[in-house]
Amino acid sequence: MRNIVFTGKGGVGKTSVAAATALRAAEAGKRTLIISTDPAHSLGDSFDMELGPSPVKIAENLFGQEVSVYGDLSLNWEIVREHFAHLMQVQGIEGIYVEEMGVLPGMEELFSLSHIKRYNESREYDLLVVDCAPTGETLRLLSLPETFGWMLRLMRNLEKYVVKPVIRPLSKRVGRLQDYVPDVDVYEQVDQLFSSIEGIIELLSDGERTTVRLVMNPEKMVIKESMRALTYLNLYGITVDQVVINRVYDESADGVFLRDWKAIQQGYIEQIERSFAPIPITRVPLFPKEVLGIDMLRKVGDAAYGELDPLAIFYREEHIDIRKEGEGRYTMKLRLPFVFDNRMEADVVQVGDSLTVRIGNYQKGVVLPVFLAGMRVEGASYEQGWLAIAFTRKEGAPARPKEER
Ligand SMILES: Nc1ncnc2c1ncn2[C@@H]1O[C@H](COP(=O)(O)OP(=O)(O)O)[C@@H](O)[C@H]1O
Ligand SMILES: [Mg+2]
Repeated sequence: MRNIVFTGKGGVGKTSVAAATALRAAEAGKRTLIISTDPAHSLGDSFDMELGPSPVKIAENLFGQEVSVYGDLSLNWEIVREHFAHLMQVQGIEGIYVEEMGVLPGMEELFSLSHIKRYNESREYDLLVVDCAPTGETLRLLSLPETFGWMLRLMRNLEKYVVKPVIRPLSKRVGRLQDYVPDVDVYEQVDQLFSSIEGIIELLSDGERTTVRLVMNPEKMVIKESMRALTYLNLYGITVDQVVINRVYDESADGVFLRDWKAIQQGYIEQIERSFAPIPITRVPLFPKEVLGIDMLRKVGDAAYGELDPLAIFYREEHIDIRKEGEGRYTMKLRLPFVFDNRMEADVVQVGDSLTVRIGNYQKGVVLPVFLAGMRVEGASYEQGWLAIAFTRKEGAPARPKEER
């Protein structure tokens, strides 16, 4: 089964492009499910119909679902939530907080992941389109499996070696302790939920099955956020196979006001091309009205894909590779296939968490991950399509920055 994940900054048109992609695939005969994992669901609006927490038929071959953390919570998390609520009541805390408690950060993402995994196992569909929450949440979603894997092991060990043999028997005798110690079924439920996403990282980082498409507008803040997303997605080993520039003023837009805007957009489009190459870029024009309903979505799909099959994998190479070379030393390799002349000097300028690489007329921007942003560029060398940039820790910086992995 093919998975296509759409992300980007809020409001850029993720839902519209995701919906258009799903519609196009369905009309080409692929059994398609589109799920929205953004708690601020707008997928239903996009198709101009009501969707819910389980798949609803939208058109021939096309189903849609809006993941609901509350629906999922009551199914999969009730025992744990009750335990949290009980803990708080013991502390004398009451009111709505108690009800909200148990919705841990990352919970929505966790449920979304378990849905993705389940649909991949069920083989009911040929294509799963995931309409994600804005970039930050998506990155959290994609980094969760690692975090939760670790927590799961910790929790299993705690239960096995500490809680079960020591604390639970003890709590039977020490009255108040009993209030704090979770029962076995609390552990079981947590374990079950965490287990439901085991193996998801293999699925997400398998570029033959799963690719991410970054939707952006030709605007400064949007581009920066997408560049950051690209860096992190690369770090997680997740393939980004297409960039969609949405809301581009097309040739027919005229008038002085629009002429100025077109020039501004053109500048940002060129910046996107420099920063995201060699990932293929496609453009969707700004339409004179909102993208609502099947007819408008079809137009978006036509613009984004033309003759291409939306299920195709448009790009599969890795283009950022970061390696730890030793204590406080890293190498970041950037794939720069367009720079052919090895004798050209690379000029690497670091400002805060941004890096600009200039070689001849070629220029590329990269947003650094947090653990590199605090380091200093030592030098750069170009070999076989890759630019290797060496980083070392700055003098006087703490020996072990928090984010270092
Ligand atoms: N190319 C476009 N032309 C005109 N309106 C658009 C275009 N793309 C998106 N929109 C409109 O912009 C709004 C936000 O789009 P949406 O897809 O919901 O963004 P996101 O999911 O990124 O928040 C919607 O009202 C949508 O109809
Ligand atoms: Mg949306």
